[in-house]
Amino acid sequence: MAQLLALHGPNLDLLGRREPEHYGHDTLAAIDALLAEEAARAGHRLASFQSAAEHALIERIHAAAREGVAGIVFNPAGYTHTSVALRDALLAVAIPFVEVHLSNPQAREPFRQRSYFSDIAVGTVAGFGAESYRLGLLGLLAHLARAA
Ligand code: DQA
Repeated sequence: MAQLLALHGPNLDLLGRREPEHYGHDTLAAIDALLAEEAARAGHRLASFQSAAEHALIERIHAAAREGVAGIVFNPAGYTHTSVALRDALLAVAIPFVEVHLSNPQAREPFRQRSYFSDIAVGTVAGFGAESYRLGLLGLLAHLARAA
């Protein structure tokens, strides 16, 4: 059994109400429940954490290393396009992670087309709404099984 973490960046607590044309109608609670269920089905445990604060996300990544978290499903949200500090935190702990996005940032404004995470992620899933998270978790589990 592995301990896994779903990590969500700023404004994702507003899912369900926030720009549904980009992000769909699923709430973050529904997404977290789906992920926990999918992880449990595979015999693993998944915790979730959301914050708008870069430092809180960084501290949660550090804590994940202390807890022996085996993998992270991460939607950095707006920090995708700005955060060297979050990138450095993931490099520091060397926990494998999958980058997920509800929308497809490559099909949106030019500033969303740069990610500080894609080149260090196991993989990226984007554009499938809440399903991006589920597919990201399945990809992460396949990666962990291969690496075991
Ligand atoms: C997002 C895409 C980002 O560009 C945006 O800032 C978000 C959400 C997504 O899930 O589609 O907050 O990460």
